[in-house]
Amino acid sequence: MADLVNNGQKRSAWSSKFGFLMAAVGSAVGLGNIWRFPYIAGQYGGAIFLIIYIIVVAVLGFSMLTLELVIGRNRNANVLDAFEMGKKKKITPIGWLCIFTPFLIVSYYNVIGGWIVKYLVGYIGGGGFVNDTGDYSAVFGNFISDPVWSSVFTVIFIALCAVVLIFGVQKGIEKVSKVLMPALFFILVFVAIVSLTMDGALEGLKYLFVPNFESMEEYGILNILNAAMGQAFFSLSVGMGIAVTYGSYLKKDQNIPKSAAIICGFDTLVAVFAGLAIIPAVFSAGIAPTEGTGLVFVALPAVFKTLGGFGIVIAVLFFVLILFAAWTSAISLLEVLIAAVEEKTKLGRKGSTALVVGVVFVTSIIVSLSQGDVIPTDLLTLFDNITNKILLPVTGILMCIFLAAKIGMQNAKDELLLNCKSRKWADVWGFLIKFVTPILIAFIFVMGILSWAGVAI
Ligand code: PFF
Repeated sequence: MADLVNNGQKRSAWSSKFGFLMAAVGSAVGLGNIWRFPYIAGQYGGAIFLIIYIIVVAVLGFSMLTLELVIGRNRNANVLDAFEMGKKKKITPIGWLCIFTPFLIVSYYNVIGGWIVKYLVGYIGGGGFVNDTGDYSAVFGNFISDPVWSSVFTVIFIALCAVVLIFGVQKGIEKVSKVLMPALFFILVFVAIVSLTMDGALEGLKYLFVPNFESMEEYGILNILNAAMGQAFFSLSVGMGIAVTYGSYLKKDQNIPKSAAIICGFDTLVAVFAGLAIIPAVFSAGIAPTEGTGLVFVALPAVFKTLGGFGIVIAVLFFVLILFAAWTSAISLLEVLIAAVEEKTKLGRKGSTALVVGVVFVTSIIVSLSQGDVIPTDLLTLFDNITNKILLPVTGILMCIFLAAKIGMQNAKDELLLNCKSRKWADVWGFLIKFVTPILIAFIFVMGILSWAGVAI
């Protein structure tokens, strides 16, 4: 159902405010919240990190998210057209960055999505695949380096995304998000309650919420700030045109600041609940919280094992939860690409979905194979570093400049304030976008490059 028009071309629109919010929350809430946040929060000082993170989300995350939604609704177009700059010659470098970044991210995100499907299927089958040997690290390592099975599960995850995307914005993304997001939240609260009632859970709570001044000394406040900013970008899916694309389907009656505040608030709430669900359980099983994939695929199976038969039930619920999170995020990454192909070619929704999914299928399989011996370089880590340390910050800064130079601050404020009762914050927002946000992002960029190059700060 097309409700918007741009240059005579009909465009899709969200059918309801709730539908848009659930789709946008679905994009934001992903692997970043569930495995990245709990570990990073504990490592970088617990409560200290949490306070800094909340301030960073409120300042940097909120201003970037509103900026992208404003650009999207104002330009009413896919990223390539939205960021067009020349008058006669249509050049769109930011548009291409917003194609390239989600493309790289989704190519590895799908692979992790495949691992989740594998673990979910395995636990539905009774969990024997991990419990039989008890060596969770070896089970995981063997699986991801198996070229056939890891590829098969990656393909299943891509197919799950394609099935939703082919139905378009309203009947696909919106419909599915409206069911998956509330379900995710209920499961998360339940798993958190179970985790908090386990023996020894208090240690985990301390790790997460008691200020850890040692880590402040160890890492330094600048590194903690940098970690919080990187996490906010990653978690809110900003700096790659997702919110521009989702914002382009917004009708003029939606209040952008309120929506962005809800998305930021919900994303942070889910991250904190994920911390409550995972860290106390891991501590209770006497395991040190490890990073990223190790936490979900190695530490948690050991926790599930300690719970016996009930552990299988919790494992199934947990992998359903993380599957929902990853699925709606991958959908949003793919939607940026599909929207651009659909509006720049004559392929239509189905043809564009098929083309994008086909290309991403090939790159995802290549990334999957790079986890074993078939391809020697770990492309998953490489793509993750290139996108998070270079592409997201660079695109973020360019978006701020684009807004000020091409859309104009006054137009942007008018777009921002449509349907807002209170107008008093618009000047603060303009100041943030023009001065504070680009400087903060430049800081993430420099720190990221230095840490990648191995320079200690
Ligand atoms: N925001 C989602 C998450 O937290 O997992 C999706 C995502 C966006 C992942 C950007 C990675 C990324 F770089």
